[in-house]
Parts: sequence; structure tokens; C-alpha cells
Amino acid sequence: MPEIAKLILNGNTYELPVVEGTEQEKAIDIGPLRDLTGYITLDYGYKNTGATSSAITFLDGENGILHYRGYPIEQLAEKSSFLEVAYLLVYGELPTTEQFANFEKDIRNHTLVHEDFRKILDGFPASAHPMGVMASMVCSLTAFYPESISNRSPEMIELTILRLLAKMPTFVAWAYKHSIGHPVNYPQNKLDYCSNFLHMMFGLPTEEYAINPEIVRALNILLILHADHEQNCSASTVRMVGSSKASLYSSVSAGINALWGPLHGGANQEVIEMLEAIKADGGNTQKWIEKAKDKNDPFRLMGFGHRVYKNFDPRAKIIKKTCDTVLANLGINDPVLTIAKELEEAALNDEYFISRKLYPNVDFYSGIIYRALGIPTDMFTVMFALGRLPGWIAQWKEMNENKEPIGRPRQVYTGPTERPYTPMNER
Ligand code: CMC
Repeated sequence: MPEIAKLILNGNTYELPVVEGTEQEKAIDIGPLRDLTGYITLDYGYKNTGATSSAITFLDGENGILHYRGYPIEQLAEKSSFLEVAYLLVYGELPTTEQFANFEKDIRNHTLVHEDFRKILDGFPASAHPMGVMASMVCSLTAFYPESISNRSPEMIELTILRLLAKMPTFVAWAYKHSIGHPVNYPQNKLDYCSNFLHMMFGLPTEEYAINPEIVRALNILLILHADHEQNCSASTVRMVGSSKASLYSSVSAGINALWGPLHGGANQEVIEMLEAIKADGGNTQKWIEKAKDKNDPFRLMGFGHRVYKNFDPRAKIIKKTCDTVLANLGINDPVLTIAKELEEAALNDEYFISRKLYPNVDFYSGIIYRALGIPTDMFTVMFALGRLPGWIAQWKEMNENKEPIGRPRQVYTGPTERPYTPMNER
């Protein structure tokens, strides 16, 4: 017997179907609601609203579970590579050896970007925030591949996916090189995805850059952990923009902008800035915990809390462990790690954070690793974007293949009711 929800409105009873996902998540399908009743639902921040059904990522915030296409994040972080996870997210299954070899080869074929991108880059002040630069560069791909704007054939979409995955590390590294006034490095196609990225970021024409396998492994883990997170702000943005039939390039560019905000991906930069500020202030973590609790103080403990996780963020657990390993392997003693651990301990034992179920999220420890890898603070959110790219692509592709309608929420209007226009000289 299928489950049915009953809504009683003004004495009338309406029946609404219940939809159940493969992990027994349930939703009331309100599709017919407005037609039946004339009412809409109101849900600020979409806290209770499922905007789509999706087969990509499963997230159980109460139990701290995260799966990509059914595979637990812990197993992927331990055993897989970022590129393999990208394949899994985009195409739905782990690749065979042959499928992976072809995928890697295709990606390598597209790592170069048009030389004119150097001119575009030169137009930005060196001080430009790299997230703005990245969003612009990705959107500019529409100018270099104009056929991608209107050609929505599976072949064109496939080519666009490969180009995006292949060129993004080049853009990230070039944005960084531009910001520090160094010459850009061209991709080295003999290297794997992450090693190539590190070569472009840190190589210099004057000396050989030695690839450290510890750093390559840590980078793979970080990118895997960021690769998708179901219908978050930037993924929803990508789907929303794509639903108007905008191209994958412009949709991903919009996703980069959504990620930039400090409540989303921008939090990783803010965490390290917060930890530095606490250090400069004498390292009194309790004082900052009190600030975070004070409703008259706008300060929030960055890297803490999550819309969906009301238990430990499983990504934060892995990142914390990776952070300890990376710093030990590289022989780095970063004093902000001690401050971060003290803050976490204090918050996890504080009634304010316990009652609101606020735990460290993915951004709390990631910045400390990025810094140990030599990545500057204002590039942290760009690293998040590099990791999230396969997720955005998978979300866009699913939306497109499911032929989802244009995203167009409604509203409850609260402005003035009709009134006549008054000429300016009478106001
Ligand atoms: N520090 C202090 N108080 C907090 C924090 C925090 N980091 N996060 C939430 N709260 C309080 C908030 O003040 C509210 O208290 P009250 O009920 O007394 O008004 C309560 O907890 C619920 O917060 P909310 O803002 O209604 O929760 P939300 O689900 O809308 O927001 C969040 C989720 C992630 C935006 C929020 O926890 C936050 O601002 N965290 C800091 C920023 C951050 O780390 N963002 C990265 C998120 S994970 C990576 C990603 O998705 O990009």
C-alpha cells in the first residue's frame, strides 16, 4: 500500500503521494499542490525542500554518512584517486582499467588552454581574488568553444566535460602564478592529474620541481573529499543555471561564484584567518568560543556547523587524520593546528555547540593541510572548486539527462499593493 500524506486545508482534505529513495529517505511530492489548492509552500533556505531526486551522492547528516554512487567516502579516500572518483561521479560507475586509461588519455589531450587566456589573465590586477578570476576564465571557455553554447548533443557535452576537467588545474595554477608575478607553467602530460597540477603551481623555469608523493596523496584525498555533496548551494546553482539550458561552462562558472561565499566554500579561507587572528590575540580559545556564542557579536566559529550534518562531518574526520599525517611527514609544526584542536575540544564540550549539534565541518582542518602543501590562503576556496568540479558536472549532466524543467521558485509577495504612479515633482 503506497504511503499517502493528507493535507487538510479550509476543511478540504488533499492527498499527496509520498516518494521514497533507495536509502529510505521520504518526501511528500507537492507537485500538484498549487493546482489542487491554490497554495504554495514557503521554505526559506530550502531547509525542507527536495529540489530534485538524484542518484549521485547520498548524505545522512544525522549519522555522519557520505556515499558517492553508493561507495563510502572513507573507502574512496583511502583507496581511490581523484580522477577515478571524478569518473565515478560523472559516469555513475567505477571505471575498468581500460575505461580509466582512455579517460586519463582524453583528459591529457585537453590540458592546454588557448594562448589568449594569458592575455585575459594579464588583464586582471595581481591582487584579484582567484575565485573571481576562476569564474571568469571558466565562463570565457564559452568564447573559445562557442559551439558548446547551443550544441547540446551528447558528443559535445562529453567534449565539454573533458575540457573542463582537463583545463581547470591549468587555470588554477595560472591564476596563482599571475598573482605572484611568476611565469606560467604549461601542463606536462606525462604526469598524472595531481602531479601535473603541483608542477604547474610550484614549478619554476629556473629549477626542477621534485614531486613529493606524500603531497600528491594528500592532494588526491582532499580533492576526493570535496568532489560532491549533493544539493548544496553551488550544486543547486549549477543545476538552476543549467535548467535554463545555459551551457555547462556558464553553469559551472556560476557554481564557482556560489562557492566563493564564506558560508559555503569560502569558509576554508576564513578558518585559517580566524585561527591566525586567535594566535595573534594570544591564543585564548575560550575567549573566541564566547564570542561565537554571543548573539550581539556577528562572529561565528568558522569551519563549524553544517546545514545537513547534525553529527560529525565524515569528511572532517578524514581531513583531521590526514592533517596530522601530512604535517608529520613534511616535518611541519604549525601552531594553528594546536589552536584548531583546542577550539574543537572546547566547542565539543560546550552546551551551546552541543545543543545546536555544531561539529567541525570539511573546512575546519583543510586549510592547515593546504598551507602545509604550500598553497596560499586566498587559493583555498579555489582548491575546493577544483575538487568540486566533477560533482558540479555530474549534477548538471543528471539534470540535463533527466530533462528537468527550468528552476523557477515562487514567492509570497509582501510589497505594496497596487498604487497609482505619482510624477516626480509631486513626490
Ligand atoms: N558558530 C556559532 N554559532 C553557530 C555556528 C557557528 N559556526 N553555526 C551555526 N550557529 C548557530 C546559529 O547562530 C543558530 O543559533 P540559534 O538557533 O541560537 O539562532 C544555530 O546555530 C543554527 O544555525 P543556522 O545558521 O540556522 O544553521 P544553518 O543550517 O542555516 O547554517 C552554516 C549552516 C554552515 C551556514 C552555519 O553553521 C555557519 O555559518 N557555519 C560557519 C561557516 C562554515 O563553516 N561554512 C562551511 C560549511 S561546510 C562546507 C560547505 O558546505 O561549503
